[in-house]
Amino acid sequence: MSIFSFILATMLALAPACAAPTSAPSKFLDERLLGLALPQMEELASRVRAVAASSRAANTGLIDTKNDQTDIASSDNLYKYCEYAGAAYKVAGTAWDCPVNCNSTNTAGTVVDYHWSLKSIPSYGYVAHKDDTKEIIVSWRGSTVFMDWVADFTFMSTSWPAQIDGAKVHLGFLSAYNAAAGKVKDVVAGLVQTYPDYRIVLTGHSLGGAQAVLAAVDIATTRPEWISRIELYTFGQPRVGNSAFSNWLSKLPIPIFRTVYRSDIVPQVPLQAMGFQHQAQEVWYDLNMQTKFCGSNAENLSCQNSLSMAKWSALNHLQYPGLSFDPRYIITGKLEVIT
Ligand SMILES: *[C@@H]1O[C@H](CO)[C@@H](O)[C@H](O)[C@H]1NC(C)=O
Ligand SMILES: *[C@@H]1O[C@H](CO)[C@@H](O)[C@H](O)[C@H]1NC(C)=O
Repeated sequence: MSIFSFILATMLALAPACAAPTSAPSKFLDERLLGLALPQMEELASRVRAVAASSRAANTGLIDTKNDQTDIASSDNLYKYCEYAGAAYKVAGTAWDCPVNCNSTNTAGTVVDYHWSLKSIPSYGYVAHKDDTKEIIVSWRGSTVFMDWVADFTFMSTSWPAQIDGAKVHLGFLSAYNAAAGKVKDVVAGLVQTYPDYRIVLTGHSLGGAQAVLAAVDIATTRPEWISRIELYTFGQPRVGNSAFSNWLSKLPIPIFRTVYRSDIVPQVPLQAMGFQHQAQEVWYDLNMQTKFCGSNAENLSCQNSLSMAKWSALNHLQYPGLSFDPRYIITGKLEVIT
């Protein structure tokens, strides 16, 4: 039995038949995935809990990755849009006011046009614009609940969108996206009308990155006149769809940076063995903190896929340069509390 079929079998056995996406309160990393699949994953999960515990003891506040040597490897835009992705965890309304991410030289002066917070789905994010750089920014927030979805909905992919033959996407990610998509596109349409020469940057971390991916494809299929404006930056994004879906996205004439930090476990799920495939291009901060641009091969074996499973890390998921993740979110075990 290969390691992949072992995990496959384990997850099949553990996945509840008809769980609703919002049913189970989740821990930071779902034990059905991390605690039970492999001893190495159990060990990773316990390391995350140890970090959370020591952060609480030290009351350390924010991780400002700007002061981390990891910054050296980050290009300006990767850093900047990761700041916007991280801001989605912190911005609570239409004021651009949050610690670190909203106060950086890259993001100061951003105007929030729309903010949504649908706790029951969950779906959170904001639409903003920035005049000096002529851009409209849509940023989706991640959620711990997504790990439940990875476990529960892995085999519940759904055909989407109708315009792409054979395309299938993760049902949980799509429900999160759909919850706010109509209103988000309306707000963006208004901004496009007001600012006809602005770019549209789609960004997000974790489940937020998955939603940014769905948005890129949704916009490309329903608003093709916007394609020339779109840019996609994701951080720690899980696999979203099958090869028909991801290959179509990879070939769109838009800049795509699927940023992967070191050993972050999330870009490795759901597994390829389950029919999921990433879109290109991956940008990998490798173990020596060199930034590797991984080209047109979405599952390039020279990039993060070169790591063995034993190296996959949960902590790396929160350490993207620019993200400035707040460890209080880990301590409570639920991201939902802060908004
Ligand atoms: C952001 O910076 C401004 C000006 O320096 C300061 O007044 C404000 O308190 C800062 N906000 C946060 C949330 O750090
Ligand atoms: C895979 O990634 C390596 C490392 O960045 C790069 O040199 C190579 O061109 C990529 N291969 C393809 C097919 O894109």
